[in-house]
Amino acid sequence: MKLFVTDQDGVEHELEGLEGWRAMEVIRDWGLNIKAECGGACSCATCHVYVEDEWIDKLKGPTEEEEDMLDTVGDVQENSRLSCQILMSDELDGLKLTLAQSARADEAA
Ligand code: FES
Repeated sequence: MKLFVTDQDGVEHELEGLEGWRAMEVIRDWGLNIKAECGGACSCATCHVYVEDEWIDKLKGPTEEEEDMLDTVGDVQENSRLSCQILMSDELDGLKLTLAQSARADEAA
């Protein structure tokens, strides 16, 4: 399955996703600029991404925990999600995400 990720420089990457993997893990393993400091425990918000409009309703809604973490980042938007909380599945084949500046591995969030 495909996962399209636009990085912080505006470059789009086509990644190969795997069923059951977190979007964050796919992005990290492809070497894109994502900090994902807590490794997927929903306690850092450094895996912050923006979801392309057409995909928002296809994702399961955020938990309260995820919403609380998103509230801690300065560049949060309506379509913000934590990519470690997005599980890849067939329905999400072709998902489009954009990495937030606050997810950069080379900068403090
Ligand atoms: S990796 Fe820490 S909240 Fe997603």
